[in-house]
Amino acid sequence: MNQDQPTSRRRLLATGGAGAGALALSACTGGDYQGTELTSTPSPEDTAQDQPKATLIELAAVPVGGTVVTKGPDGKPVAVTRSGESEVTAHSAVCTHMGCTVKAAGDQLRCPCHGSVFEASNGDVVTGPAKTPLGAVPVHVEDGKVVTG
Ligand code: FES
Repeated sequence: MNQDQPTSRRRLLATGGAGAGALALSACTGGDYQGTELTSTPSPEDTAQDQPKATLIELAAVPVGGTVVTKGPDGKPVAVTRSGESEVTAHSAVCTHMGCTVKAAGDQLRCPCHGSVFEASNGDVVTGPAKTPLGAVPVHVEDGKVVTG
């Protein structure tokens, strides 16, 4: 009897099981799933130093008291929240659970994949499964635009 045969079967079963698991996971998470569980978010200092100053959105495109999800200079989604005429904050719109893009919903950001809810104003987790707040993106208003930095 071939000594390698049982090992080969185990490998085949393990490989098949992993493939089936990945397929099942991708099927239940929708199109926004990016395939990695996020365990940390970049610090504001990292974001500010790594990114050149860039316009995120026209200030007028964000209603007072509202949030708009747009693209950051790196192409990743960013949620811009306007709390006053010229007061804005911004956070990564990449869910810290498994990387789906969160959607603006009133004063909250909601993840369509597994239901996490975040405060739009500060990125804090309201409801899991996410445990980590959304990363802050430093922004300010300049010439009627929301600009990073
Ligand atoms: S990716 Fe799971 S709740 Fe957002």
